[in-house]
Amino acid sequence: MWPRVKHWFWHWPSRLVLRYITILFFAGFFITNYFLWTSSQGWDVAEPNGPVTFGPKHPIKKLMVDARARHEALLAKRSYDLNDAAARYRARRGRHPPPGFDKWTEAALGSNAILVEDFFDRIYKDLTPFWALDSQTIAQRAASWHWVVRVRNGQATGQGNTTNRVPWLQLWTELVTEFSMHLPDVDMPINYMDEPRILVPFDEVAKLVEQERTNRRMPPVHEVVTGFKGLSQIDAMNPQLYEPHWFNRSDNYWDLTRVTCGPNAPSRNVEQISDFNTPVNYPSGWAPDYTYKGYIKNWTAAMDPCVQPHLREMHGSFVNPMSLSTTQELIPMFGGSKLPMNNEILIPGAMYLTVDEFYSGGENQRGPAWHRKKNGIVWRGVASGGKAKSYNWHRFHRHRLVQMLNGTTVNAMEHQDSKAQTFNFPDAEIYKNTRHTENRLGKWLKKFANAGFISRQCQVEPCEYLDPYYAEVDSMPMKDQYKYKFLPDADGNSFSARFRGFMRSSSTPLKATIYAEWHDDRLTPWVHFVPLDNSYQDLYSVLDYFTDDEVAGDTAARYIAERGKEWSEQVLRREDMRLYVWRLLLEWARVCDENRHNLGFIKDLIDPQR
Ligand SMILES: *[C@@H]1O[C@H](CO)[C@@H](O)[C@H](O)[C@H]1NC(C)=O
Ligand SMILES: *[C@@H]1O[C@H](CO)[C@@H](O)[C@H](O)[C@H]1NC(C)=O
Ligand SMILES: *[C@@H]1O[C@H](CO)[C@@H](O)[C@H](O)[C@H]1NC(C)=O
Ligand SMILES: *[C@@H]1O[C@H](CO)[C@@H](O)[C@H](O)[C@H]1NC(C)=O
Repeated sequence: MWPRVKHWFWHWPSRLVLRYITILFFAGFFITNYFLWTSSQGWDVAEPNGPVTFGPKHPIKKLMVDARARHEALLAKRSYDLNDAAARYRARRGRHPPPGFDKWTEAALGSNAILVEDFFDRIYKDLTPFWALDSQTIAQRAASWHWVVRVRNGQATGQGNTTNRVPWLQLWTELVTEFSMHLPDVDMPINYMDEPRILVPFDEVAKLVEQERTNRRMPPVHEVVTGFKGLSQIDAMNPQLYEPHWFNRSDNYWDLTRVTCGPNAPSRNVEQISDFNTPVNYPSGWAPDYTYKGYIKNWTAAMDPCVQPHLREMHGSFVNPMSLSTTQELIPMFGGSKLPMNNEILIPGAMYLTVDEFYSGGENQRGPAWHRKKNGIVWRGVASGGKAKSYNWHRFHRHRLVQMLNGTTVNAMEHQDSKAQTFNFPDAEIYKNTRHTENRLGKWLKKFANAGFISRQCQVEPCEYLDPYYAEVDSMPMKDQYKYKFLPDADGNSFSARFRGFMRSSSTPLKATIYAEWHDDRLTPWVHFVPLDNSYQDLYSVLDYFTDDEVAGDTAARYIAERGKEWSEQVLRREDMRLYVWRLLLEWARVCDENRHNLGFIKDLIDPQR
């Protein structure tokens, strides 16, 4: 206890100080929010006679307001105990939770995980078609694959030959070991390639999905089996490795991809172009449904090649993939990223589990505070994305990003009427950009952007053909990149594996991708990061918005940087990746169990305790 006299002595001054701090806090809060959220109701009103609003009106502002509302609606669905979690599971999945759900929920609550059922939607999208295959067949195929994280009697081991390979199997096995004592026998077969490998045609998947829907049921409590059967019978059969037919580099990846799109999807009947040596057919007047006045509104659609036929000639994965080994048959395989149409089962990328600073910038590495960051954009990487060659490199996504951020190139386009190989200036009708209309975008980029390849990765031929357009630059550790305000993230041969690091960096991540990841259902674009179109036609105007108006734009960028960082420390922790894979393996073990339709967790229904 404080002595009385001291208490009295401190009483008044501290109250005064507190009052000033409170006033300052609310003033700051008000100013920030004022610039961010004012005039939110004025957007759709016709300009001249509309109400008086303050600050510039910009579509990005509306997208940010809408996104924040969506994010908050998701948070309102948070579960705080087992009964809630189980009830929400049944409502969303139409099944009882799998056995072991109580231990899982306990671990989730114990590690302060934000438990929202929707965050796990990916698991159910990925597993749905497997419910329509024979449980014993998929269990055997999983057990006999080349690389498997294998759990028996609560112990996880990594099986398979990893000589001369990256340590992914080891990293995934280490993660599973952290909760394997709570798992039934289960096998997680691993895709060891960077690229995803399964593309089941649309009609086939549609049939399997329909069959799962027809057979889905929630049996009455007395019919429910509450224990897994285990895999000893499967092991006793000593199943042999099953290899489906693999398409290879002599096949056309775009043509394999587009048959996975629905019959009416824009890409379904568009064949791959025959001559890659021609100029890029950069989309002009491209205003798809997934944008609002030019900016990404629907992120799910923005990453979907089925609705963007031009990506066949504008993304390395389709122009000339680095390796191609793809099947049209549904076999179980787990991997870190995939195209939305691939049939792999997603788990967190192994790169997110390493302490290697190359990918993360260091697990506890954060950039400096916003006001101490350099007002600029930085990108470093290799010229990957596929096999870029002298006749097709101008169609690659990384080449496009680096060239668009090259102030010298853009300046020459503005003043010498030269053309860039990888892009055209965005449609001026959709993207009003004062810096460009006044021909000073290039000059501005020279100061603002610092982007380059650390290796140009020319395949086969010497790199001379790139000399006029790209110079190799020094690499920059991720933690130094975090000293810049803006960090664009671009796909490589598959996903970039940098995104988790960027999210945690306290800078503003910008992202275009065609690769889905485990975390997609828990991140909200325009709240946690800035979404970009894969054409990058929105890039300049997005940067304009966040930099042109020093108060509103900069505050909005800082808002996203800080919300993103804060959120990633709540939902992208190692604990969260563990919980995701744990839940997934309970589900996967159930799909592989011959009692799967009756297997479930029902303790909460028999003995509800709050
Ligand atoms: C393991 O893989 C390496 C490299 O691919 C190969 O040289 C070696 O023969 C393999 N070992 C076994 C036991 O198959
Ligand atoms: C690719 O697959 C085809 C058809 O299965 C086969 O004939 C060919 O030898 C394979 N090519 C390579 C390089 O493996
Ligand atoms: C976003 O796009 C996806 C995929 O194209 C679609 O299924 C979904 O309904 C869209 N969402 C909204 C809110 O329009
Ligand atoms: C930027 O473009 C110019 C040509 O316009 C080129 O000479 C230079 O190497 C490029 N810079 C980088 C970092 O690639």
